[in-house]
Amino acid sequence: MPAGIVLHVTGARPNFPKAAPVIRALDRHGVRQRLVHTGQHYDERMSEVFFRQLRLPEPDINLGVGSGSHASQTARVMTGLEELMVAERPALTVVYGDVNSALAAALVASKLDIPVAHVEAGLRSFDRSMPEEINRVVVDHVSDLLFATSPDAVSHLHHEGIAAERIHLVGNPMIDTLLANLDRFDVAGVRTALSLPERYVVATLHRPGNVDDAADVVDLVKAMHAVADQLPVILPLHPRGRQQLENAGLLSHRALRVVEPLGYLEFVSLVRGAVVVVTDSGGVQEETTMLGVPCLTLRPNTERPITITHGTNRLVTRSTLADAVASIVAAGRPARRQTPPLWDGAAGERIAEIIAKLLG
Ligand code: UD1
Ligand code: UDP
Repeated sequence: MPAGIVLHVTGARPNFPKAAPVIRALDRHGVRQRLVHTGQHYDERMSEVFFRQLRLPEPDINLGVGSGSHASQTARVMTGLEELMVAERPALTVVYGDVNSALAAALVASKLDIPVAHVEAGLRSFDRSMPEEINRVVVDHVSDLLFATSPDAVSHLHHEGIAAERIHLVGNPMIDTLLANLDRFDVAGVRTALSLPERYVVATLHRPGNVDDAADVVDLVKAMHAVADQLPVILPLHPRGRQQLENAGLLSHRALRVVEPLGYLEFVSLVRGAVVVVTDSGGVQEETTMLGVPCLTLRPNTERPITITHGTNRLVTRSTLADAVASIVAAGRPARRQTPPLWDGAAGERIAEIIAKLLG
């Protein structure tokens, strides 16, 4: 790898809409780049479709690590990346979000004395039972450049003693992708394709805290059925929880339809037209905030509180979900609030300017 190369490490679904605007902006600055796909996610619908729809370049390297326990998956990414980084010595490694691929890349690069940039730094749920929280903290503390999406994230980094000159509030590159594709979201088209009525609920579920425990999943299915009693539900289901949820009877309600994970354009179109979204996704909390679609997050906490203070998000439990849906169905869409600062479609460009300056 020639000197001055920026190495992007991606691997899981939420990485792709975050990386796309950064890569494009760095291209405009004439920065040489390489893209690694770790292979953490590998199904066509969890990976390739994003490359196609978001016009991401083909990855230069796919490590093909696949699924496994946290330790084995992280270790496989680390071993693959170490070999690559020793051979190629990139000038900077860019990692995205809070997934295992980001953790592995940040650890390897920092030990090789290769600077690390973390896109989406400083988010905190303060819930160490979430693997992502551990990843966020470790990645932030070994990073040289910390790109934050919200002022609360900047405050967390300050409180943790990270030097101010490393921290940059740049806005949200996932929202760059949303805004750049607004014209391509076809609500009527996706409704027709999926034979949905005008009023429907979209759901996504994949957090270990929701889908891994068989007893909890039974209650979750009851809660989802109580939503389907009110409005038809469409659930593009992440592969993680599929078996457990189906074993618990998810498919037994006529008004709840499970489909394979959707492509980005189809999924966000569906969200845009929904009466309400029920989710445990990080990214979906942000996308609903921008689109002004009510969002009910099935989690006890969120590392994205700005989606509550500035957006449409509300935390719910399995037992409060049905009533929360009922009140949204009765009240309709909320009045638009001011969107979070710098969620304006230019985060990728801000990041690229800082990186280009660093590389000289
Ligand atoms: C990962 C991230 C999580 C993120 C989510 C986004 C970590 C620790 N977790 O969780 O933060 O919210 O991605 O989607 O990095 N599987 C497939 N096909 C695939 C990928 C996964 O069938 O293409 C199945 C496998 O059974 C696998 C399971 O999903 O064991 C979990 O995948 P994994 O990447 O370990 O974690 P996620 O739950 O996807
Ligand atoms: N997404 C998608 N198809 C789906 C579900 C989600 O394209 O069927 C997109 C969603 O719009 C967002 C990203 O995937 O851009 C979020 O990924 P995910 O929920 O898997 O991860 P998280 O954000 O929770 O880490």
